[in-house]
Amino acid sequence: MAAYYVTTPIYYVNDAPHIGHAYTTTAGDVLTRWHRQRGEQVWYQTGVDEHGTKVQRAAEAAGVAPQDWCDRLVGESWQPVLNTIDAATDGFIRTTEERHRVGVQHFWQVVRDNGFVYQADYEGPYCVGCEEFKLPGDVITEEDGTVLCPVHGKPVEMLSEANWFFQLSAFTNALIEHYEQDPSAIEPVSAYNEVMSFLRAGLKDISMSRSSVTWGIGLPWDEKQVTYVWFDALLNYVTAVGYGAAPGSAAATEFDRVWPADVHLVGKDILRFHAVFWPAMLMAAGLPLPRKVFAHGWLLVGGEKMSKTRLTGISPELIVDHFGSDAFRYYFMRAINFGHDGSFSWEDMTARYNAELANGLGNLASRGTAMVQRYRDGALPVAGELTQAENDLVALLAVTVARADERMLALDFSAGIAAIREFVEVVNQYVTEQQPWVLAKDEADSLRLDTVLNTIIESLRAISVLYYPVMPKTMAALWEQLGAEQALGAIADQRIEHVGDWGQLPASTPVVKGEGLFPRLVDRDSDE
Ligand code: MSP
Repeated sequence: MAAYYVTTPIYYVNDAPHIGHAYTTTAGDVLTRWHRQRGEQVWYQTGVDEHGTKVQRAAEAAGVAPQDWCDRLVGESWQPVLNTIDAATDGFIRTTEERHRVGVQHFWQVVRDNGFVYQADYEGPYCVGCEEFKLPGDVITEEDGTVLCPVHGKPVEMLSEANWFFQLSAFTNALIEHYEQDPSAIEPVSAYNEVMSFLRAGLKDISMSRSSVTWGIGLPWDEKQVTYVWFDALLNYVTAVGYGAAPGSAAATEFDRVWPADVHLVGKDILRFHAVFWPAMLMAAGLPLPRKVFAHGWLLVGGEKMSKTRLTGISPELIVDHFGSDAFRYYFMRAINFGHDGSFSWEDMTARYNAELANGLGNLASRGTAMVQRYRDGALPVAGELTQAENDLVALLAVTVARADERMLALDFSAGIAAIREFVEVVNQYVTEQQPWVLAKDEADSLRLDTVLNTIIESLRAISVLYYPVMPKTMAALWEQLGAEQALGAIADQRIEHVGDWGQLPASTPVVKGEGLFPRLVDRDSDE
């Protein structure tokens, strides 16, 4: 069975991760968990980009060999951050691995054999921050003649090297045709338009090797040169799933199952590499193209892209230690429209945590479970006849599931979450209106109280499954409290298509009021 294959970019290990990096990985994790919840086969791939000038210089500055530098940072920071944000990735690739080197060398040999590689000199600007050969229109020239990279705000370096070139220009028309036929291959529309105008201006051939760099993968036909870091890094998407393995091997079979990628998630700064260079490379090698490149926006601090070089990078641990991993995941997916820039602030996150998680969802869960415990000794009562109020909730749930599913599949996470959140609010309102604490006072209302309690717990059952891809830890805890684990099996095995089936929890399911799902925040100054 083919797999729904999602990738993050592979991250440069010149420094430790900040929340901009964790943002991409979180989005991919929510997306892939949602697809798993639909019962699909999924492969979620991430990893690190270890070669190139940027990493080499960082290692030199620290006085260690590049491999040692990478081993340390990957082991101490890049792998642990997946745990910090609770990302359930299937694969992690390092570009210094042997399987990657073999695949990269094989790939470029094929492309050269196919006639798309030739020798020429490169002379021009290069930004080490971007690891990019800059075109004239890509740079800013200051009054004093200094040429700056607009992304990093730093002077570019002038290179003059004998290189090998990739004949990118040969693919201009094929790429235009491809994207005209399938506009959904680049999203959002702003990204699509940017790529199309870049393509329509015509592509120029580009250097695919570096002669002045040593930290990289040697060209199979010219050991004195290493593969240009982007033309090494992009190939991780195929080498990670078996490209380059011996024909007939298990890894090669896996490649046929998983490739092409369904979604490459990228920040908008690296769109051109993914939507222009990468598909051209694949065409040159005769491989199928990815189905979609989705370019998300930047996390901004003070109106600028958050980055370690600008000293604005915030580490994911800092936020997760304070709010927990689920609140981290919820906040970034809910507060920022995926595909647009967004700002992070402690104040905004605190406000949403309190309003939407602690008071909204957390309160509903604790009220619901506490009342079953108090009024029915913790045994879920059977519902009596449903009234209009309950029927409305059941109907709204069906709409909610359909809407959330549609938005999540479209990578519109904030709208998907908004749909679920609205349902939570309506259930909270239902509790307020039905006043179960009043019904509990009169024996004559006993059957009605059964119905209301059952309705609240059934709603929580549905909410926990819908929110599980966003907040896996908390929703697994809620699932336990509802007694659903025993009655219905693991939360991960619940299917989106059945969430709306009403009345799944059997009579007498043991419901317990456990720990609050979203604890009160500790004052940030006092825990530092
Ligand atoms: N190594 C390359 C990618 C190679 S993929 C074949 C690279 N690495 S990176 O570490 O600089 O960036 C990786 C991803 O993190 C990019 O998608 C980038 O957009 C994202 N982010 C880095 N800073 C960011 C923000 N401030 N906000 C959101 N995402 C950001 O590029």
